[in-house]
Amino acid sequence: MRLANASVLAMLPASGLAACGTAYEGSQIDGTLIHSVVIDMGTDAANITATQYDPYFKQGSALKGVKAVIEDSQFYINLWAIPGTESAFKKVSQCLSGGYLVNQVPWLYYNSTAATWWGGYEAETEASSYEAAALSVATGLIAGLEVRFWDTNGDGYTDLIDADYLEGVTIDTITHNANSTYSIYRGNIDVANKTPYEGTVFDADLFSGAGPAIPASNFDTTIQSGDVALFWYGNQGWAMKRAEDVVGIFIDGEDHTSYDVGGVTYGDAMRFSRDNLPISNRPGEFTDAQKFFKLTNDTAAGLNVSLWLVPVTNTTNRGGPVGMTSDGHSRDFLAKAVAQAQAQLNNVTVSTNGANVPSTQEWVNQGNYTQLHEAIARANLALSLANSSSFLLDYQTYVLYLTLYGTSDDIGAESADFTFTGFEKAVQLGSA
Ligand SMILES: *[C@@H]1O[C@H](CO)[C@@H](O)[C@H](O)[C@H]1NC(C)=O
Ligand SMILES: *[C@@H]1O[C@H](CO)[C@@H](O)[C@H](O)[C@H]1NC(C)=O
Ligand SMILES: *[C@@H]1O[C@H](CO)[C@@H](O)[C@H](O)[C@H]1NC(C)=O
Ligand SMILES: *[C@@H]1O[C@H](CO)[C@@H](O)[C@H](O)[C@H]1NC(C)=O
Ligand SMILES: *[C@@H]1O[C@H](CO)[C@@H](O)[C@H](O)[C@H]1NC(C)=O
Ligand SMILES: *[C@@H]1O[C@H](CO)[C@@H](O)[C@H](O)[C@H]1NC(C)=O
Ligand SMILES: *[C@@H]1O[C@H](CO)[C@@H](O)[C@H](O)[C@H]1NC(C)=O
Ligand SMILES: *[C@@H]1O[C@H](CO)[C@@H](O)[C@H](O)[C@H]1NC(C)=O
Ligand SMILES: *[C@@H]1O[C@H](CO)[C@@H](O)[C@H](O)[C@H]1NC(C)=O
Repeated sequence: MRLANASVLAMLPASGLAACGTAYEGSQIDGTLIHSVVIDMGTDAANITATQYDPYFKQGSALKGVKAVIEDSQFYINLWAIPGTESAFKKVSQCLSGGYLVNQVPWLYYNSTAATWWGGYEAETEASSYEAAALSVATGLIAGLEVRFWDTNGDGYTDLIDADYLEGVTIDTITHNANSTYSIYRGNIDVANKTPYEGTVFDADLFSGAGPAIPASNFDTTIQSGDVALFWYGNQGWAMKRAEDVVGIFIDGEDHTSYDVGGVTYGDAMRFSRDNLPISNRPGEFTDAQKFFKLTNDTAAGLNVSLWLVPVTNTTNRGGPVGMTSDGHSRDFLAKAVAQAQAQLNNVTVSTNGANVPSTQEWVNQGNYTQLHEAIARANLALSLANSSSFLLDYQTYVLYLTLYGTSDDIGAESADFTFTGFEKAVQLGSA
């Protein structure tokens, strides 16, 4: 079960602080870092109970050790402790009404009508007991994010675990409010450029309007317009930091798999939340558009892209890819895409069945002709305005690719309900 963000926010006390689960006192853990894991990346396992982590627990088993840490109320996500026991959970009214929240979404929930426990990623999984539900929250953390094992009593083993649950967001506008908080606006692509043909550009709406006010002490002031950042709801409220950017030539990539920037290949992180990034700046979809227009591996053109990663503590580890942007080169990429699309449009005759078109000449029906014509016009308008953001320009490149190629092979476009036949698939040679 997932409650919509808005209804969860409405249940929270006016202070904005969720009250199921105890907040860690202090901004960082007081203890010795024993080990850090980046889930499902590099040599790390898909969850922290995997046997490779057994040596870090005095029980000799990561599974037993993680259960014990949870039971001691020492398992934190974004510095909020999961209630240790069923009775601790049931004592707190906010736990019973809204559940234990991660970024204000329930991950551990009791349905008192059905007397059922739900846990795991966004409380999607029914569990047989409180203990099983709480454990499934710990094992349901998703790829690309860091989990740290701490020793706080000096015995050399893990007795406290703190996990991150960070989500990505594009930064269009940063407002420093009069009361010193910061507000982020992720960009107006969905509002300004929606057409009857298009699907869901964003999958969440947290930063589509004024957004949550982020206390100045939780806001990374190195963040600039055009960046990709990470946000979370920590023990001091909403927080945001800049993602780490890798800048270079985009050599090659494969949707949902890996991305090679500047000769280094970065693995993807499944289920990592990019809901506050436009679809066109998610790594897989950005890759599909770049490869379609043959913009990758063009060392001669020298147009760099940025791959944004989750920063991690251990420099031998690598965090998940959050997004890809073309920054200052978004205009150049879009201009190349428009030129290719325009050449294909100029090459066809409009016809209903091709009977009047010579067999050496391509034709297309009016609907597909108009769709491409309009996509080119929107792209040209975005190019003509000095204030078009790089995100908007990247989005126009992506929609041109979908319009030409169709949506059937693009996993993200399909699930976002974009439905383009693809101009290239509709084009045929005449029969006259
Ligand atoms: C950092 O990563 C290296 C290589 O995977 C590993 O040997 C080391 O234990 C890690 N250090 C911490 C503190 O996690
Ligand atoms: C955790 O990972 C281990 C090793 O990959 C696997 O055997 C186990 O089934 C996983 N547990 C869950 C709950 O996903
Ligand atoms: C709780 O369970 C009841 C009975 O199965 C169901 O009708 C209801 O929708 C559930 N409530 C939530 C919030 O999932
Ligand atoms: C600070 O200002 C912002 C923007 O006007 C507002 O949304 C927020 O509620 C204010 N916060 C406090 C603590 O007053
Ligand atoms: C592209 O990125 C590389 C690697 O960061 C850098 O050396 C080079 O100066 C960049 N080129 C341009 C045109 O920005
Ligand atoms: C990139 O281009 C170079 C030559 O410029 C070529 O050797 C290499 O195989 C290409 N890589 C890919 C992935 O296409
Ligand atoms: C234009 O149409 C011809 C067939 O008439 C085809 O061979 C050629 O590839 C097309 N060019 C473009 C740019 O679509
Ligand atoms: C494009 O043509 C196909 C048939 O090839 C048709 O099914 C589709 O509806 C057309 N698209 C538009 C936007 O008219
Ligand atoms: C960009 O500039 C145009 C024309 O000057 C203006 O109409 C539009 O509101 C501006 N858009 C933004 C997002 O500032």
